[in-house]
Amino acid sequence: MSLPVIAIDGPAASGKGTLARRVAAAYGFAHLDTGSLYRAVGVLLLRLGKDPGDADAAAKIARALKPDDTILTDPDLRGDEAAQAASQVAVVPEVRAALLDFQRGFAKHPPGDARGAVLDGRDIGTVICPDADAKLFVTASVEVRADRRLKELQERGIPAIPSDVLEDMKARDARDSQRAVAPLRPAGDAFVLDTSAMNAEEALAAAIAHIGSKTGLGTRR
Ligand code: CDP
Ligand code: CDP
Repeated sequence: MSLPVIAIDGPAASGKGTLARRVAAAYGFAHLDTGSLYRAVGVLLLRLGKDPGDADAAAKIARALKPDDTILTDPDLRGDEAAQAASQVAVVPEVRAALLDFQRGFAKHPPGDARGAVLDGRDIGTVICPDADAKLFVTASVEVRADRRLKELQERGIPAIPSDVLEDMKARDARDSQRAVAPLRPAGDAFVLDTSAMNAEEALAAAIAHIGSKTGLGTRR
């Protein structure tokens, strides 16, 4: 019997990563932040001195990526340079095809003794795991999301100009939702969770209520 899979998608700073981590902890599931795969490809490409638009080099790196590669936990992945490079390599069909196998492998055989898998990203419910047991599309207004990103940067001591953060957010939204391959959009059967006026606790409660109603799964606590 296959293990349960929960798909969580949404735009940048919608809170999908925080939610995915908490959902995974609540059910005893393994969590894969799929954005880190695209970020890793982007960062490795930049470190090789290549242009983030170099499709052949990006595809080669994506095909060689392994679950235990140290790049996947490298602090450089969290930077804005990595985010922009990630959204550039993410438009390359060969990169997406290579990472598809990686992600489906995780969903099918989550590491350790996990009783299921939670994957968060942009196309989990639409492309990677279309048969997921529950799908959530987490969103929030672009202003709220830019504000969250700004707070994170400030907490990390990184100087940022609010209008620049908002413009970067809009540029990444446009690139992610208008690309030809696997554009960001909710799956037809996804539960849309707008967190504009919710804190992380409230978002978790809403997600658990939905997952419970779809799957009958109970949390560990
Ligand atoms: O955390 P944040 O939403 O800012 O970014 P992320 O989830 O780490 O993703 C970085 C970039 O990778 C996104 O802007 C997307 O272009 C790309 N990505 C994707 O195309 N598909 C995914 N499943 C995950 C990320
Ligand atoms: O993964 P993604 O880029 O979608 O967002 P995140 O890194 O999980 O969350 C961005 C920020 O929003 C974090 O500082 C969270 O604490 C905060 N936040 C949240 O995750 N959920 C809410 N409902 C409200 C705020």
